[in-house]
Amino acid sequence: MQDNTFCMRFLGTGSALPERVVTNDELATILDTSDKWITQRTGIRSRHVLTDEHLEDLAALAAGRALEDAGLDPGEIDYFICSNVVDDYPTPSLCSLVSERLGLTCPCIDINCACAGFVYALDIAECRYEAGKARNILIVCADAPTRMCDWRDRSTSVLFGDGAGAVVLGPGDNIRAIKLTSKPDMQKLWQRSRQMPTPFYKGEDVDTGLQMAGGEVFRYAVDTCSADVQALLAETGLGKEDISYYLIHQANQRITDAIRRFLDEPEWKFPSNISDHGNSSSASCTILLDECRRSGLFERGDIIVLSAFGAGLLSGTAVVQW
Ligand code: COA
Repeated sequence: MQDNTFCMRFLGTGSALPERVVTNDELATILDTSDKWITQRTGIRSRHVLTDEHLEDLAALAAGRALEDAGLDPGEIDYFICSNVVDDYPTPSLCSLVSERLGLTCPCIDINCACAGFVYALDIAECRYEAGKARNILIVCADAPTRMCDWRDRSTSVLFGDGAGAVVLGPGDNIRAIKLTSKPDMQKLWQRSRQMPTPFYKGEDVDTGLQMAGGEVFRYAVDTCSADVQALLAETGLGKEDISYYLIHQANQRITDAIRRFLDEPEWKFPSNISDHGNSSSASCTILLDECRRSGLFERGDIIVLSAFGAGLLSGTAVVQW
């Protein structure tokens, strides 16, 4: 293995889910779909959906759990990154809303890297550690993709669920390598929202739900994740036998299975929660990390690959030593 030049580690993890659970059978009462179709094509059986709750409250709950797990008070956090695609407020940013709830006064920033947001946030955090600009960093990934879908479109609305995941980072050497990629292509996965009309702009009728070329996104996800993992193994000098687990963005169980087959790895190395959560965008990998850790899956020294991909098209993969 090459010398580790990274300088942060995980101190705590947390997650939070909306109370309301919607099963495939319930969706079949709203849409022309079935439990059989959704289960066979995606592996999803149910998902948590925001109702009257606010995403910022869910995000603050996940953050509070990660802080408690890390044994830190909010005042000990000196930088805070939120990953989020759509919230109630275009401004202030989600990180400001969550900071208010937690009593955080450190600098904070929102990023929108869609489903790949957790790995992009880890990369930003790593840069701050390298620059000697932070001691304890909080990352919260909170997304509500069910509020982005056009609920008349069965090909997108059955795929998503809402949630929030969080990690607290401190100085250390958990991260071995990070690879980020960008393949700009807005035709595959996008949503456009209406701007306020002005005296100089009459506005256009452009509100859309999430638009997706499902098959092409599927192929992109399998190709980019497989290539990123192989590139990072080569870069770090790690072999497949060194990897304990792969935490793959929970978009579709068939995507995860295809990546697993490409890498020629056994099923048990790919923990999954998609059956109960669906795709919760950037929260997905973060929630999976928290659930795996709390279930006692990871042992000290385990090498874990985190990989996520989505709109942009963006992907991010990290190799982490627990
Ligand atoms: N219920 C029942 N039928 C559905 C359906 C639903 N919810 N959604 C689509 N169908 C139908 C289609 O209309 C199509 O019917 P047709 O053959 O009569 O035209 C048929 O099922 C097959 O559709 P297709 O798009 O070929 O299915 P698929 O096997 O490619 O699966 C996805 C569709 C969306 C599940 C799959 O492409 C996928 O998961 N893509 C990646 C999506 C993703 O992860 N996006 C986020 C990335 S971060």
